[in-house]
Amino acid sequence: MRAVHCLNGPNLNLLGSREPELYGSATLASIQARLAAACESRGLALHFRQSNHEGDLITWVQDAGLAGEPIILNAGAYTHTSIALRDAIKGANAKVIEVHLSNIHAREGFRHHSHISPVAQGVIFGFGALSYSLALDACIALATASES
Ligand code: DQA
Repeated sequence: MRAVHCLNGPNLNLLGSREPELYGSATLASIQARLAAACESRGLALHFRQSNHEGDLITWVQDAGLAGEPIILNAGAYTHTSIALRDAIKGANAKVIEVHLSNIHAREGFRHHSHISPVAQGVIFGFGALSYSLALDACIALATASES
């Protein structure tokens, strides 16, 4: 594994000021900086992106999947609505770790269902910004296991 993708969906650009009681005070830039440092120390490139547009996320998932590079994916609300994103993961055989800052199962009923989880390798949620670091550790552990 040479590169890891971290893809972020709608409204995650507002982290830091968006509902901090749910999502914490870390900004997306600070999450990116933390992941970038962790990747650098392991000799990995990090492709970190955010979009409010479903099609962007689909294209990025396809590209990473077809390149055989793993994805840490926080699809935001598209998690609960996007069959197209689910199909992109399946269609490009993308290796995805689904992440959420909040504990989606402790929230409104409409957040309890994820279209991503059935096609993800695993899901990490409820640990705030730490969810991303745990997902990176999982990515590296899975890649190491599959290489040996
Ligand atoms: C989220 C949870 C989603 O339900 C919500 O729509 C988000 C953020 C999270 O990281 O906790 O935008 O993915």
